[in-house]
Amino acid sequence: MLSNELTKENIIPFIKDIFDRRGSEEYLGENVTIAEHMLQAATLAEKKGYSETIIVAALLHDIGHFTSEFGSFEMNDKIDRFHEDAGAKILEKFFPTLVTDCVKFHVAAKRYLCATDASYYNKLSNASIHSLKLQGGLMSDEEVSKFQKNKNLNDIIKVRYLDDEGKIQNMETPDFDYFIPIIKKVLKA
Ligand SMILES: [Fe+2]
Repeated sequence: MLSNELTKENIIPFIKDIFDRRGSEEYLGENVTIAEHMLQAATLAEKKGYSETIIVAALLHDIGHFTSEFGSFEMNDKIDRFHEDAGAKILEKFFPTLVTDCVKFHVAAKRYLCATDASYYNKLSNASIHSLKLQGGLMSDEEVSKFQKNKNLNDIIKVRYLDDEGKIQNMETPDFDYFIPIIKKVLKA
């Protein structure tokens, strides 16, 4: 389905199809598939008592790996494929700005945290360090102060941490259907 054919009625089946069919493709050289990774991030958000908006942002943050015209990430990539922009573009018609900001800026948040928190870089997975280089490396001071002006900064960082955490081998999570009622609540009226 083309992105301009997406409607309020078919957006959830469209996302579900990605989780069910394509989500079991391997993820960035991690131990979990991309579907497992996103389900883990959402489950961790719920366990931490975060809002439904953050749960949905965590669940959908990597959807752009499947909707990017540039295709998904591979460990031997030499260029970035901007999955964060592709994801936000699909979601912006249907979800509040807080969700799309968390999706759009989850890569920027990694670059931000690497620049501002020395301990953060050391905790990144190898795949995440590899993609960091393609994504522009650490933010400059100028980029940092611009990024700090985003009114959703704290939530963007929250989703970033969930992204980093959601790479646990054999973690039990609910399946995608469990999150459908939560997505429905967060969808724009
Ligand atoms: Fe991710």
